[in-house]
Amino acid sequence: MSIPVITLGAAASAYVPGLEQLRGPVTVVRRCQELPELVAACQTGLARAAIIAPGTAGLTASLVDRLRFAGVAVVALTDGAPVADVLDGVEYVGSAVEPEVLAEAVSRAVERIGDGSDRRGALAYADPLHLPETSSPPPVSPVEGPGEGRVVAVWGPSGSPGRTTVAINIAAELAAAGGSVLLVDADTYGASIGASLGLLDESAGLAQACRIADQGGFSGPALGRVAVSVAIKGGRLRVLTGITRPDRWPELRPAALGQVLDAARSLADVTVVDCGFCLEADEELSFDTLAPRRNGAALRCLEAADSVIAVGGADAIGVPRMVKALAELAERVPTAVPRVVFNKVRAPAAGRSPEAQLREAWERFGPATPITAFLPADHAAADQALLAGTALLETAPASALRIAIADLAEVPVGERRRRTPGRRLRDVRFPGKPDRLPR
Ligand SMILES: Nc1ncnc2c1ncn2[C@@H]1O[C@H](COP(=O)(O)OP(=O)(O)OP(=O)(O)O)[C@@H](O)[C@H]1O
Ligand SMILES: [Mg+2]
Repeated sequence: MSIPVITLGAAASAYVPGLEQLRGPVTVVRRCQELPELVAACQTGLARAAIIAPGTAGLTASLVDRLRFAGVAVVALTDGAPVADVLDGVEYVGSAVEPEVLAEAVSRAVERIGDGSDRRGALAYADPLHLPETSSPPPVSPVEGPGEGRVVAVWGPSGSPGRTTVAINIAAELAAAGGSVLLVDADTYGASIGASLGLLDESAGLAQACRIADQGGFSGPALGRVAVSVAIKGGRLRVLTGITRPDRWPELRPAALGQVLDAARSLADVTVVDCGFCLEADEELSFDTLAPRRNGAALRCLEAADSVIAVGGADAIGVPRMVKALAELAERVPTAVPRVVFNKVRAPAAGRSPEAQLREAWERFGPATPITAFLPADHAAADQALLAGTALLETAPASALRIAIADLAEVPVGERRRRTPGRRLRDVRFPGKPDRLPR
């Protein structure tokens, strides 16, 4: 069957006669001059591929993601020079090639995105993490693949169970132990890492990083320039602050966020991401299926993470919420293997011997996922750290809460900065896991 294609720009439409002469593999159904015209045409389901002229402004990772969601593969013509900002999922072809070669690139690109049957499935909010390699690389400059750093997502149900507190303090423990650590605030509902660390940063580092990453070719060093650096007990923590207002959530587009996390793997040994709680897919039920998805950011982080810490409140409301949230996580991100952590553990809320009570309730009503850790309620320590705009290890190093979080991060308390050169943080284990953290 002939593949219906749309062209964008003069250089792409110049190919129309040549493609038509091939009489078969592709049929040009529309020639567009402007990008919005192309997007609108793609949304109608008219085409399976778009051929885009060299130097088209606005060709971003998010646009490629949107077109892919509409079932349209992207073939970008290049002016022959190596492409500096390569975008995942785009087939690049030199603009001097014969029409046959262009037609082959179109069918490769279409084959690569498949029949689109996955588009409304569980992963419909984002492009696949790793698209297959193109079969014949056109003149494209090699881009560094993702590094070996790990991504740890800190997530949990609604009700402020302490996701941010856990994310900040795990990151701080690892950074103070001498590792290179990036802390990312990807909460699209209530970003608070900046405020919790006393950063007067109005720049929304993550949004800025996403904006740059959307242009393609994003790298660890580029990400390092956007992150702010925070000194933690002799260590250094890089921070990507979150959006400054909840209504800025469309700036955290899943495709761009995926690029940022890839870059993070080459910038830091460990990247700790504070995710929003909500995994609902309401947006996909709307008619405007190409609308940005607010929960796409959390879903994308959870999908990309090597390890997920699920934080819940240790009380009669927090425990059932955690049960429901884990079921939702299993449905929306089946690849995630969460480690369950109950925070703010206190006798008045869970009964005498709260840990034993919680364990018993979990065994009776909870899912098979075991509880990895209990973090005690310690209001004085938590408030003191917030007030000082820093981590517990600075303001309350001997507190039970700090020690429990250091344990969770498997950083031995009292052995700060004794890391031997060459030992990387990925050698650090987390409790409850017999093996090393998965990469
Ligand atoms: N173990 C604890 N003991 C006492 N207070 C705590 C504990 N953990 C967190 N807190 C406090 O609970 C409040 C909420 O914590 P945090 O902001 O970490 O939650 P969250 O899950 O990120 O909430 P949000 O829904 O706003 O993202 C903060 O005031 C924090 O200092
Ligand atoms: Mg939070």
